[in-house]
Amino acid sequence: MNNALKSLIRQHYIDLQGYVSAGMEMNKSADKLFMNANENPYELPGLEELNRYPEPQPAALKEAYARAYGVEADWVIMTRGADEAIVILTKLFCEPHKDAILICPPTFGMYGVNASSMPAQRFEVPLLKEQGSFTLDKDEIINQAKDNSKNIKLVYICSPNNPTGTSLSHETIFEICEELEGHAIVLLDETYAEFSEQGSMCDDLEALPNLIILRTLSKSYALAGMRMGCFISADNDFTQLVRSKCLDAYPLPRLSIEAAFHVLSPEISAIAKENIQTLIQERKRVETCLKDNKHITHIYPSDANFLLIEMEKAHEFWQYAQKHNIILRDFSSKVGTENCLRISISTPEDNDKVLALFESFR
Ligand SMILES: Cc1ncc(COP(=O)(O)O)c(C=O)c1O
Repeated sequence: MNNALKSLIRQHYIDLQGYVSAGMEMNKSADKLFMNANENPYELPGLEELNRYPEPQPAALKEAYARAYGVEADWVIMTRGADEAIVILTKLFCEPHKDAILICPPTFGMYGVNASSMPAQRFEVPLLKEQGSFTLDKDEIINQAKDNSKNIKLVYICSPNNPTGTSLSHETIFEICEELEGHAIVLLDETYAEFSEQGSMCDDLEALPNLIILRTLSKSYALAGMRMGCFISADNDFTQLVRSKCLDAYPLPRLSIEAAFHVLSPEISAIAKENIQTLIQERKRVETCLKDNKHITHIYPSDANFLLIEMEKAHEFWQYAQKHNIILRDFSSKVGTENCLRISISTPEDNDKVLALFESFR
C-alpha cells in the first residue's frame, strides 16, 4: 500500500482480523447446496432469492461502477450511499478523541456530524466569497492540515459543493493533494459531478495517492431510495484492506444491487444522462427567470441540480412556500449562507410552481 495512505490509517485497523462471513468463504453457484449461513430455505412468493444473503461486493457490479466512473474495478468500494462511505472513512482514519477532520463551510453537514460521533475534532477553513461565488482558501487549508498539533487526517472538499452549488478548481484541489501527501487524506465528494461542466477528478487518482473520491447513484442516476454509492482509491492494497476489514458482512441489500445494475445498463444510463441534461437546462431556466426578481439579492452560480438563492426575506419565503406545500431548504440562519434558501431543481411543471410563488410573494 502506498505510504500516503498507510501512514494515516489507524494502527488498530492494520492489526485487526476482519470478519469472514459464510458468503465470503464459498462463492455461490447453482451446483452446491448452501447450508453454511443459517439462511431460510423457503423463498416467499414475490420475494424470490431474498432468503439468501447477497454477495458483499458483486464483481460484475463493481465493473459497472468502474465503467461509469472511468476507473479500475478494484479501486471501487461500493457503499450504502456516499453517506456510508463518509462513516467508513472517518472510522478508518480518525482515532477517537485524538484525530481531526478539516471542512470548508458552508458545506455538507454530514462530514461534521460523523466526526462528532467518533468523536473527532473538526477544524474549519471557510470557503472564500469572491465575486459572488466561493473558492477554496488553499493556503489556509494547507497550513492547518500540515500543523502536526492538530492531527488532521481527513480534508473534505465537496465539488460541486452542497449547498452552494460551486465547482471548486481542480487545479487547486490537485495542488492541495500534492502538498498534503503524507499529512492528510483529501476526500473529494463528487456527489454532484455529473451535473458539472468540470466533471470528475477520477483521472487524477493515480497521480494523487492521498486522494479518495466519493460518488453516488443517488442524484444523477435517480437512485436515492436504494442507497448505492461508493468511494474510489487507486491503491488496490488499500481497497483490499477496506474490503476485508471495514465493511459489514453483507453491506449491500440485494434489491439495491439489482437496481444499481439496472440504472448502470447502457439503456437506462442513457435515459439518466438525458435527464441530467434536462435538469441542467431547467436550472439555467429557473436562474434566468429569477434573476430580476425583486425579492432576490443574489443567485450563486451553480454546477449542481440545485440553486442557492439569497433574499432578504428568505425564512419568510420558506414559510410561504411551505404553506403552499412546496418544501425548500432553509439555510438562512447558517453561517456563510445567511438569508439563503436552497431550491432543488425538479420537473419543468414543479419549477414553474416555485417561480409562480416568487411572483405572488409579498
Ligand atoms: C455533498 C453530498 N455528499 C453526500 C451525500 C449523500 O449521498 P448518498 O445519498 O449517496 O448517501 C449528499 C446527499 O445529499 C450530498 O449532498
